[in-house]
Amino acid sequence: MSYKPLTKAILPVAGLGTRFLPATKAIPKEMLTVVDKPLIQYIIHEAAEAGITDIILVTHSSKGAIENHFDKHYELEKELELRGKMDRMVPLNEITPKGVRIVSVRQPEALGLGHAILCAAPIIAENEPFAVLLPDVLMHHPVKGCLAQMAETYEKVHTSVVALEEVPQDQVEKYGIADVKGPDLRITELVEKPSIEEAPSNLSVVGRYIFTPRVMELLKHTKPGAGGEIQLTDAMDDLLKEEVMFGFEFKGGKSYDCGDKLGYLQANVEYALRDAKLGEDFKAYLDALETKEI
Ligand code: G1P
Repeated sequence: MSYKPLTKAILPVAGLGTRFLPATKAIPKEMLTVVDKPLIQYIIHEAAEAGITDIILVTHSSKGAIENHFDKHYELEKELELRGKMDRMVPLNEITPKGVRIVSVRQPEALGLGHAILCAAPIIAENEPFAVLLPDVLMHHPVKGCLAQMAETYEKVHTSVVALEEVPQDQVEKYGIADVKGPDLRITELVEKPSIEEAPSNLSVVGRYIFTPRVMELLKHTKPGAGGEIQLTDAMDDLLKEEVMFGFEFKGGKSYDCGDKLGYLQANVEYALRDAKLGEDFKAYLDALETKEI
């Protein structure tokens, strides 16, 4: 089958973020900041770098701040203009990447990641591939973003591509785990949150996916799995019976699990150290910090 070009990405943002309470009581977890930008802004820019022009947020009534962040704020812009603070306008104009449209659909019930993706089905054509980015995971690369690299692979293979990363054996229970064969990382099995004994490997699914449209069809029939939720990983495992799927190893970059407090703090420290304006001063501060005295 010949597919349409890859231009759409689904971002599931309906989760309530209970791990970050009380911070996330009134603020969506995707709006937590790393240095000076909310997590979701990094993710949308990563998608845009990969050539994505249509972002589909799968969202919840409590998450309006995300849509507001990517919308125009007339009063604020007028006020900055009146006060002659045009320099403050620059970061505002950089929020939404040029040429990117953002739409949202609702996930009425928290039935799992697979169900969230399925909520976007009406916006994906039958012959259309699509990307999925999980906003909890930040992927930093000094040259080219993770999804842009995966899109290059997809253009060569025209089949599903999934980012994989090794995790310590005792952490496999937190992730989708893949078994692969051969140097091209062909995926042979996928299990969502296996026990340490059942895990086929320690290669975890990181939160960046490019799918052929077939996975959407399979999701319609996917039964609840791990944790009683409709799991994307289970539909992907079904897809393996019909199509080839490749793992993608993200080399030369680093991932940060910002759904976890420690990962989130690490992202803040490392993104601040890389920041063109702040980096040097922040490094000097860290070098001089006597942690024993705190
Ligand atoms: C989800 C996926 C899992 C993946 C993980 C990456 O799990 O279901 O396969 O490994 O994201 O962060 P969650 O973190 O939503 O439990």
